[in-house]
Amino acid sequence: MRRKIVAGNWKMNNDLSGTEALLNDLIALVPNTEATVMVAPTFVNLFQAFNVLKGHNIEVIAQNMHQEPNGAFTGEISAQMLKSVGVNTVILGHSERRAYFGETDELLAKKVAAALSNELQVVFCFGEELEDRKSGRHFSVVEEQLKNALFHLQTSDWEHIILAYEPVWAIGTGETASPEQAQEMHAFIRKTISEKFGDQVGTTVSILYGGSVKPTNAAEIFAKQDVDGGLIGGASLKAEDFVAIINAI
Ligand code: PGA
Repeated sequence: MRRKIVAGNWKMNNDLSGTEALLNDLIALVPNTEATVMVAPTFVNLFQAFNVLKGHNIEVIAQNMHQEPNGAFTGEISAQMLKSVGVNTVILGHSERRAYFGETDELLAKKVAAALSNELQVVFCFGEELEDRKSGRHFSVVEEQLKNALFHLQTSDWEHIILAYEPVWAIGTGETASPEQAQEMHAFIRKTISEKFGDQVGTTVSILYGGSVKPTNAAEIFAKQDVDGGLIGGASLKAEDFVAIINAI
């Protein structure tokens, strides 16, 4: 179902006490909102994050997972392990996973399938690099990413998929896509999904924008018709900024 979502991706930030402190600030400051608010602390703090947030309307989600259910994969974490501590949603395909950890569309197709078969909802990230945009290939790159990682899905799987368009050149750089650039790409994504899976899926999938969203630019990006919210990195680490972004929706 299409809904408004603001998700904070904390990446490799905040130790245990930092996690507790930020969550307590969010408990105090996050307004009553119809939007879904999510935060993704690091794996080791997920369990405690659920404890701190008990009874509050902030969803704890994971930043990644392995595609296999268990086995000799040192350092990895499975869908079932996430489920066992209470996680219902996982981010997959973040550009940092793709760039620094070699995650390919083909691998991500497997991760998405594994997440769905474990009844995890997926926030699927994708987006073009700067050279792609400069050379005018941004639409075809995005289409390819969607095709390779998500076109194997069944129509019914889409109830559990949230898309996050994150142009790589805008992540952590301070450079944001203009609201028009975001809208243009989100409309293209919706059309691509509609053509493959039908209008029902295309019009109901939530598509978030990510890449240097801040309190100062959130409202104009979120105002665009095909933008359903944001995946927020740096600005989700300060409660006041994250809350200002939630208020912008
Ligand atoms: P940023 O990160 O907001 O710091 O650009 C966004 C993301 O990586 O999801």
